[in-house]
Amino acid sequence: MVAGDGTDTEAGQAVYSPLVLGVYDAFVLGFSNRFLWRCPSAKLLELYDRNVRAHHLDIGVGTGYFLDRASWPAGQQPRVTLVDLNANSLHAASARIARLSPRCVQADALKPLPLEGSFSSVGLNYLLHCLPGSIPDKAVIFDNIKPILAPDARVFGATIVTDGPRTFAAERLLALYNAKGIMSNRTDTLADLAAALKARFGTVKVWREGTVALFVAAV
Ligand SMILES: C[S@@+](CC[C@H](N)C(=O)[O-])C[C@H]1O[C@@H](n2cnc3c(N)ncnc32)[C@H](O)[C@@H]1O
Repeated sequence: MVAGDGTDTEAGQAVYSPLVLGVYDAFVLGFSNRFLWRCPSAKLLELYDRNVRAHHLDIGVGTGYFLDRASWPAGQQPRVTLVDLNANSLHAASARIARLSPRCVQADALKPLPLEGSFSSVGLNYLLHCLPGSIPDKAVIFDNIKPILAPDARVFGATIVTDGPRTFAAERLLALYNAKGIMSNRTDTLADLAAALKARFGTVKVWREGTVALFVAAV
């Protein structure tokens, strides 16, 4: 299967080598978020701070930056499960939050998840734009997590969409990432994301910050 054909999940995770993960925080979370996507990482950390709960599942973990910095609920020992298709990401994120003794599961977010339990929060930050297909295809991930949510769970995250205003530099980098299969978000829109969430969850909030769509949903 080729990158961008709507089914190949390999391409969206393959880039996360130890070398790339080593510069990810500085280039993506520092430079790109502020100057290209116009969504400073502080906004994403705020999303974690507001929505992360003690029994947390994070899918597409990268370097674990937000998990490391998030304000976990006081007085409760967090129980954290990390899911990623890429072993380097799992290694980097789990080492970073070793103090929380996370459980690691190597799995594809678009396939049924080998997980049980009732998670009180699920973070999907900057994962959807790595997944192949359009938002209705990617929304399979919401179907995959629904059976393992606690009744009062929050599902939250952010993803780069391509329907809003963006700078020339952002446009060029999006084209490059899509050509290489690092991102597959040519047709991703905030409206499609909102529709996919509303079809599955009772309470949904979706908003735009620069080129990024942020969301919070509850059953
Ligand atoms: C852009 S990074 C996001 C990292 C982190 N959540 C953040 O916000 O900084 C995307 C992560 O998703 C993972 N990933 C990509 N495709 C995946 C898939 N199909 N299933 C599970 N993880 C995937 C990558 O390996 C990588 O760790």
